[in-house]
Amino acid sequence: MKLEKEAGAVEYFFTKSPAGLGNLKSEVILCKKCGLSKTRKNVVFGAGSDKAKLIFVGEAPGEDEDIQGLPFVGRAGGLLTKIIEAMGLKRKDVYIANILKCRPPNNRPPAPDEILACRDNLRKQIDMIRPKVICTLGKFASQTLLNTETPISALRGKFGNYNGIKVMPTFHPAYLLRNPGDKKLVWEDMKKVMKELS
Ligand code: URA
Repeated sequence: MKLEKEAGAVEYFFTKSPAGLGNLKSEVILCKKCGLSKTRKNVVFGAGSDKAKLIFVGEAPGEDEDIQGLPFVGRAGGLLTKIIEAMGLKRKDVYIANILKCRPPNNRPPAPDEILACRDNLRKQIDMIRPKVICTLGKFASQTLLNTETPISALRGKFGNYNGIKVMPTFHPAYLLRNPGDKKLVWEDMKKVMKELS
């Protein structure tokens, strides 16, 4: 009798409770919707707080991320961490995700069919977290989330909108490693994000 009740309670928990990020991750790590599932070492789902007020969205995992299964853990990730800390935050306070959850071979740019196949994963992550601001890093994340072909140089620094959430497009940290002179522009963008969060 007691066992039956407990089994019922467990069933209720799994069938009726709203699916959280953990449930979504367990689905996504099995994904085979595009060819990247054949070459990936790990799915890089995303990391950080599920109550984050700020989400950073990058392009796709690189080699380090593919090996560790975590977003932005290579050189570009080191710079992103510095940007987050300069904003007075820690990585665990924000959420970090990518447009693609799997590494494109040789870090080639995401293909349109891969973006389409992966699009719902990021949409669901954003829906579950409902942040105040999304910061899109680079051309692919900015154009995909804002559904535009406007170049990143014209998008950056101006808030856009994704389903009622403010989106700040800025340069990708990998670009900043090649063009350190543009770090000051990114800092201008982050100041606008901080003002919005305060
Ligand atoms: N570049 C990205 O866009 N995402 C990562 O996770 C790492 C590098």
